Amino acid sequence: MKRFDFLVIGSGIAGLSFALRAAQKGTVAVITKKDRAEAATNYAQGGIACVMADDDSFSRHVEDTLTAGDGLCHEKVVRRVVEHGPEAIESLIKWGVNFTRDENGKAFDLGREGGHTARRILHTKDYTGREVERALIAAAKKNANISFYDNHYAVDLLVRYPFEGEAECFGAYILHTGGQIEPFTATATVLATGGAGKVYLYTSNPDIATGDGIAMAYRAGAKVANLEFMQFHPTCLYHPYAKNFLISEAVRGEGGVLKRADGVSFMERYHPMASLAPRDIVARAIDAEIKKTGSDCAFLDITHRDPAFVRERFPAIYQKCLEFDIDMTKTPIPVVPAAHYTCGGVATDLEGKTTIGGLYAIGEVSFTGLHGANRLASNSLLEALVFSKAAAKSALDLHREKSSLPSPEPDPWDYAGTTDSDEEVVITQNWDEIRRFMWNYVGLVR
Ligand code: FAD
Ligand code: SIN
Repeated sequence: MKRFDFLVIGSGIAGLSFALRAAQKGTVAVITKKDRAEAATNYAQGGIACVMADDDSFSRHVEDTLTAGDGLCHEKVVRRVVEHGPEAIESLIKWGVNFTRDENGKAFDLGREGGHTARRILHTKDYTGREVERALIAAAKKNANISFYDNHYAVDLLVRYPFEGEAECFGAYILHTGGQIEPFTATATVLATGGAGKVYLYTSNPDIATGDGIAMAYRAGAKVANLEFMQFHPTCLYHPYAKNFLISEAVRGEGGVLKRADGVSFMERYHPMASLAPRDIVARAIDAEIKKTGSDCAFLDITHRDPAFVRERFPAIYQKCLEFDIDMTKTPIPVVPAAHYTCGGVATDLEGKTTIGGLYAIGEVSFTGLHGANRLASNSLLEALVFSKAAAKSALDLHREKSSLPSPEPDPWDYAGTTDSDEEVVITQNWDEIRRFMWNYVGLVR
């Protein structure tokens, strides 16, 4: 058994930013099922939405979020996240994140994405997530209170259900690469396990996004909410050998236009913001056009912009497209919608607390009320930062309160009835079936 003050499951933006704060006052274990950088965070392209410009305002960002969420966002949560944006960005800069600035190197170069009525996306070219993950891992490595457990897999939560009073989480069972399952205990356990996009056949998500945190919380009896709201990103690269590659909405923010195979642009028939309409509307419009015309995909055309600008602003997308013989400065990019973001998740309050004592959920695994039926672009990284700060404050208070009390003793993991599978195909078959089922029956259009 291992004992820490704080147990963090997940090493994306939510888990790492929580760990950095909690480590100021206690020991932290960061459990992560692959290499620590392997998280959806690492693949984020567009950036982080935050009101920074003089001609923008908190109320406009709030309004855009509510509109994108289709009337189902919790306004109090939206206001709180938006208003805490600037301090969240400050922390990231303090931890070493370098955002792209204008040619004078002073003001931030603010991008635009679907559903936003102003330029308010801080970004590092088109690889913002990679820069955030790099900086947070580097900062965490310098902190002696943080221990990383790469290639460790959280299997289930340790929860006590007293005869009276609320259930209480005191850690999790963790599977080592060697196949042993060991209890890790802590005063506060934090689910920062990301979303579930990988349950779909076509997705922008990396392989780690299998909804483990939602499943663990659900099995333990925590409240989950809004799981029917899976967001589909309108523009993933369409190519038989391109696995899960996103073409950022920022390309449309810089003038990219969605077109049919015959070159006709169509988004103006669906929404006044045309190619920059909220994501759910654009994704459904592409789906409708593809079905109507019998084509395999739609096309995103930015060939009218200066090629030097396109290469400088979107170096990663430009390179990836070239690998498939697509020069985006000369030819429109073939795109299709794919599962992208889990809007629902483990229900929390404003401090990231779940309905089980000692258990927090932050980042994409959570349902805070911010996104409603459809997340506004680049609000996810922002939500993770704002809620990880509030959760860290609450968890530190809990730790102060509980550190002198004896912690519950976990039972060893019960291996009864389990054997090593001698045929992996049993798993790959089920996995393939689930992903196909979700794509065909729980897909883009209800
Ligand atoms: P993640 O970053 O996904 O991290 C989850 C962590 O949990 C991983 O380390 C994983 O290994 C670990 N984990 C999961 N299950 C277990 C388990 N059972 N045991 C141990 N560890 C486990 N949002 C924006 O706001 N702006 C963008 O520009 C943007 N672009 C995106 C581009 C792409 C291609 C994708 C896929 C998403 C994008 N998003 C963007 C969404 C955003 O990146 C994610 O919502 C966000 O990074 C989630 O952060 P997180 O810390 O909650 O989870
Ligand atoms: C993108 O760059 O298009 C993704 C932004 C997001 O998911 O918020």
